[in-house]
Amino acid sequence: MRLPVVIVLLAAALTAAPVAGPASAAPPRYLDAGAPVEQRVADLLKRMTLDDKIGQMTQAERAPASADPSMVTKLRLGSVLSGGGSAPTPNTPAAWVETVNTLQKAALATPLKIPLLYGVDAVHGHGHLLGATVFPHNLGLGATRDRGLVRDVYAATAEETAASGVPWNFSPCVCVTRDERWGRTYESFGEDPSLVIEMEGAIDALQENGVLATAKHFAGDGDTEFGTGNGDFTIDQGVTVTSRKDFARVDLAPFVSAVREHRVGAVMPSFSSVDWTEDGVGNPVKMHASKELITGYLKHRLGFDGLVVTDWEGIHQLPDPSVPATAPRPTPLQVRTGVNAGIDLFMEPTSAPRFVTLLKAEVTAGRVPMARIDDAVRRVLRTKFRLGLFEHPYAEAGEVGTAEHRALAREAVAKSQVLLKNTGHALPLRTDSRLYVAGRNADDIGNQAGGWTLDWQGRSGRDTIPGTTILEGIRAVAPDVTYSADASAPIGKDDVGVVVVGETPYAEGFGDVGAPPWPTGTAAQKEKKLLTLQPGDKKVVDKVCAATGTCVVLLVSGRPQVVTDQLPVMDALVASWLPGSEGAGVADVLFGKRPFTGRLPVTWPRTTAQVPINVGDRSYHPLFPYGWGIRT
Ligand code: GLC
Repeated sequence: MRLPVVIVLLAAALTAAPVAGPASAAPPRYLDAGAPVEQRVADLLKRMTLDDKIGQMTQAERAPASADPSMVTKLRLGSVLSGGGSAPTPNTPAAWVETVNTLQKAALATPLKIPLLYGVDAVHGHGHLLGATVFPHNLGLGATRDRGLVRDVYAATAEETAASGVPWNFSPCVCVTRDERWGRTYESFGEDPSLVIEMEGAIDALQENGVLATAKHFAGDGDTEFGTGNGDFTIDQGVTVTSRKDFARVDLAPFVSAVREHRVGAVMPSFSSVDWTEDGVGNPVKMHASKELITGYLKHRLGFDGLVVTDWEGIHQLPDPSVPATAPRPTPLQVRTGVNAGIDLFMEPTSAPRFVTLLKAEVTAGRVPMARIDDAVRRVLRTKFRLGLFEHPYAEAGEVGTAEHRALAREAVAKSQVLLKNTGHALPLRTDSRLYVAGRNADDIGNQAGGWTLDWQGRSGRDTIPGTTILEGIRAVAPDVTYSADASAPIGKDDVGVVVVGETPYAEGFGDVGAPPWPTGTAAQKEKKLLTLQPGDKKVVDKVCAATGTCVVLLVSGRPQVVTDQLPVMDALVASWLPGSEGAGVADVLFGKRPFTGRLPVTWPRTTAQVPINVGDRSYHPLFPYGWGIRT
């Protein structure tokens, strides 16, 4: 994180916090905005008690912290996050700012007045803030192959995140998705590490706009074996079975670039594990416990000088044979394993007090060296100084969902569309055609936004967030449109069919193919995830394509859908991915207002049996290859 010094100095001059002590006494060095960051860190560190230090290594969740802000003061917490869907009521920028500032006030009531660092998952725009611009998820951005556009999207995301008072984004995921059965496929820019690296201007865009970026999840989360998922998940949080050579080539490469080229300020380890083939598989190591990779590789080999933050209760998954599975988490062994592995900040949403007590006991017993604590605290403090939080701890609400940002999102949507098939020049459509629009994803802004939107798992519905559905985009340019989600309305023989189907929202392992879905949400959200179309979608495609002379099918989904059997009845097929709030961008390419330019960021399988299938595989016969996309 590098803020131009002039900004920090100016902010200091304007808003220097008054410091207790005799009028003549100079302020402590750490409060001198003009002093070099490392000197400020050193000065503050030596003033800190063990309680101060352990507090700085602890992150609680918004809900318990907002219910009792005094816990921030008592525990001297360094950070608070909003977990997926955790928003204030009302869900407005002003209410978010009020939440952050209230917690900040509690942090500044501590003896050393160390400001709090607040984080959120703004993974496709600030999706949890109602009214924010919701951009295409990363897989669609990868399809654009447009580095400048991706930077602009993340710059706008930074502006809207900061407008809600939040200076830290747990994004971008620089994961490399190697198996589309993974529920987080859509959070990846693609299956080729070089494409992911090409999109890492996202990090600069966030940090140049004053928002700390987080490269996640370190490492191999998209490269785990099917069937090794954690608990009920089939693939998420599973085991990456690989050689050190392949791990470096596929899974670590994006982190090398994130650290060395983009100076990312934070890194989040993965829930997954790694199992080295050269050592004889059968000994998976959790990434949250890997001192070899966190300390040895990330910090020492790559020279990463930012902070490492766990994933959500990440150390609670670490093996601890000394206690029953039902023992309270985290356990003492889990705490010292995570700290000694090199993690600096611990996401303990509802167990922050327990974590603080256990870590203090581990340090006091000499099982966690003070040098490790000091290294962690240095990194946390360095991050806060670089963000300018000591000079500018409080936020002011700003504007979100502006016309400018929505226009940018609409451009990103259009450029993300991949035209897979277009026989008989079915596309572009004519605005004077009689259009018959069908499919459950034609008029559902919640489905087109996907996970991490208002709710952690997303939320189906046509009015969940402001914006335009794909149908609304079509209706805005074509006067003669019949819409029938289930194709029950009569179909005219001269109608042009437009069928928009695909997936309902999900997040993380609940989107894994074969995993039980998240237990709440709409009936459609509770459907078992498949790599093929859901039966209801198949029926609508068959019915409309059989009854119309021209049939265009759009797939709104977080990953490829195996549609080989039905491809012959489709005159045109478009991968729309998860476009977000500006569905009108899809109409822009359907009617030729913009050309189709998108290219596949992942291989499109011919059969489910082929998966995983990736560019570069020895045997490679997909339906559509990586990089495919018809230009119009
Ligand atoms: C989740 C995700 C991670 C996210 C974190 C905080 O479990 O794995 O990507 O940043 O928790 O919401």
